[in-house]
Amino acid sequence: MSNDWCEIEKVAKSWIYEAAQIIKSSFASSIHIETKSNPNDLVTEVDKAIESFFYHKIKEAFPEHFFLGEEGIAEELQSLKGTVWLIDPIDGTMNFIHQKYNFAISIGVYQDGIGMVGLIYDVMADELFHAVRGKGAFLNEEPLVPVKERPVEEAIIGINARWLIEGRNPYRNPLSALVRDVRGTRSIGSAAIELAYLAADRLDGYISVKLSPWDYAAGLVLLEEVGCRASNFQGDRLSLLEPGTFIAGKPHVHKEIISLYLGEDH
Ligand code: IPD
Ligand code: CA
Ligand code: CA
Repeated sequence: MSNDWCEIEKVAKSWIYEAAQIIKSSFASSIHIETKSNPNDLVTEVDKAIESFFYHKIKEAFPEHFFLGEEGIAEELQSLKGTVWLIDPIDGTMNFIHQKYNFAISIGVYQDGIGMVGLIYDVMADELFHAVRGKGAFLNEEPLVPVKERPVEEAIIGINARWLIEGRNPYRNPLSALVRDVRGTRSIGSAAIELAYLAADRLDGYISVKLSPWDYAAGLVLLEEVGCRASNFQGDRLSLLEPGTFIAGKPHVHKEIISLYLGEDH
């Protein structure tokens, strides 16, 4: 049976608003925090509860759909065949814990690897960025206009400053040169919100040395609708099953950053 993507967007929106209420009500009690890959990689029981909330909603409404979430509630996914929901239940967990602000629920729905629906909800700002493939992108009820280009030297780029100092990062020098040359940098701490901001013309690009599919699955659908580009640092198509380098931007900014700072010669 083929999917009605507008209907899927509608139902996903209603689940997002329900999940946001659960997240906000969690502020009333103390939240248990654990670490994952390193002492700054945080997860709480709220992240897990929200992922589980979506998993059960999806399994009940669409038993034949597949699920890929950050917290591993579902079985590991080996392929993108069929309809796949890629979910980050809370993107910006560190902000959720420390700031109680600047975190998002991010949902991308893909059909055989093609992004069909993307939703990013900035919970505390009450901003829902959403798109259905071919039908344009919106911020709440307002359409997002196709992006306006800017030269790299006038661009504001989203980047986490950690990528400029970590010895393990082979891109340190090219990234320092990029940061020197652009007009400004911003670091919100939620890749999903930063991609939504790019789609909404609040940023001109976003760059990360390591990002996972659930961080950008929804963002890619929004970016496509407003004419932005996204790829790995070599300019190749992004994987939706493996993490990797990530650069997104308005077409000119995306192309120039790869050719001047990141491509094969750097
Ligand atoms: C993180 C945020 C952060 C980005 C990290 C992500 P999480 O996601 O998007 O901005 O720099 O790479 O892992 O762990 O808060 O869902
Ligand atoms: Ca994330
Ligand atoms: Ca997360």
